[in-house]
Parts: sequence; structure tokens; C-alpha cells
Amino acid sequence: MKIVAGNWKMYKTIDEAQVFFREFAALALPLPQNVEVVIFPNYIALGAFAGTALNGVILGAQDVAADAEGAFTGEVSPAMIRSTGAKYVLIGHSERRHVFGESPDVVHRKLLNAMEGSLVPVLCVGETLAERTSGRATEVVRGQLDGALSGIAHLDRGHLMVAYEPVWAIGTGANAENDQIEEMHSLIRSHLRQLLGDGAGRGIPILYGGSVKPANFRSIVALPSVDGGLVGGASLVPASFTELVKIAAQC
Ligand code: PGA
Repeated sequence: MKIVAGNWKMYKTIDEAQVFFREFAALALPLPQNVEVVIFPNYIALGAFAGTALNGVILGAQDVAADAEGAFTGEVSPAMIRSTGAKYVLIGHSERRHVFGESPDVVHRKLLNAMEGSLVPVLCVGETLAERTSGRATEVVRGQLDGALSGIAHLDRGHLMVAYEPVWAIGTGANAENDQIEEMHSLIRSHLRQLLGDGAGRGIPILYGGSVKPANFRSIVALPSVDGGLVGGASLVPASFTELVKIAAQC
């Protein structure tokens, strides 16, 4: 089962999101049985879809608070997200870490809070260009996994996803090379097995993200270590997102 997930970031009003789903339905339905299709809209659009059947598309939130409830102006709790019917939540996306300065500790607390609130975290990890060029990419990614998952010794299958998104490939048009992706995904897999045990570590899907588009997705998603894609720009357009779903279905 491959996974194609769209991260809409801060794009699309409620109306624009509805237009997307109408056009996507016309192009992509019925969805292939062997692909899980996920969209991460902004909170406002997510709320607007509460209780709406989206023909098999699963929804997620782009962020979540680090606490369950309380006086935290502007924050949104796991229970609020669950109440929309969403299943997933992005944790530690590079824009959260690098634009908003989210620390490893906050990423960790958000991950735990999401799990306690019955959401499935999609933990995003990835190195910056400077970290890669100085030969520290694997050390950085390992450290991000350690920080986010510290204290979690056991996980059931289906309770976590990881997305490898090299920061230098996000929104730049420059995707990682296949051998770079294979190398990092294998490292993530073996580190997950070490941290969480063999069974759980083996079952956690690992997505690639960073300038995924129809032109490069076929060879990326066919890599044995890649369970799917986390897609920004190309997920905003029904035609290209449909294309990505169809490519994944052929793997
Ligand atoms: P991009 O974004 O596909 O536009 O590079 C990916 C992401 O940020 O998840």
C-alpha cells in the first residue's frame, strides 16, 4: 500500500478547498484500492469538511498544540482535530522547525500529545543544505528521531508515520537523488527498529517529501524503501495530485 499525502500549507480558503475536492473527485474517483490518499488542509478548511464524506480521502492537520486543553491562545488541541474526523497530524514539519523555531522538545511534546489524543503523527525529519554539505545529514536525522521519539519504547503498527523531507528540497524544485533517498530511508528504518523494536520499526511507513511532482515521482515511489510521498506544491492542483495517485497505484 503506497501513501500519497498532500500538505496544503497556508493555501486555500474553504471555497477553494471545496473546488479542489470537486475537481479531484471528477479526475481521480474511484480511488485506487492500493493507495492511501491523505490531505492536510489548514484548520479552517479542515473544520469545514467535518462530517463530509470525501470519497475515501483521509484528512489530517498540519500542526497541533503541545497540550490537551487550556489557556493557549491560538492553539488547536488533538480533540478538536479529532472532532473534524481527521486521523493524521504533521509533527515537526521543517517550516515549523525552521520558520517558527519549534524546538526538539516542543516537537516531542506535540508528538506525545497527538498520540494521547488518538491522532497518528506524521513525524517530519530532514537536514538543511549546510548540514548535508558538512557531512552531518545522517547524524541530524538520527537526532531528530531520537528527540521526537524519546521515551517511546513501544508502538503499535499504524500509530506513526515518518516523512523524510530534506529542507533543501522543500519548495525549491530540487528533489533529492534516488540514492540519497534510499540511503536516508534505510537509515531511518534501522533507527526506528532500534528505538521501537523490530516489529514496530518495520511497520512504520516512511514517506519522501521535497519537490515531489509527477515528473519525478515514478522513480521515487518505486524505491523499495519509500512508502509514499508527502507533497506540497503539486498537491494544490487537482490534475497533478491525481497524477501522483495514479503513479503510486502502478507501483
Ligand atoms: P514541496 O513541499 O512538495 O512543495 O516541496 C513538501 C512539504 O513541505 O511537505
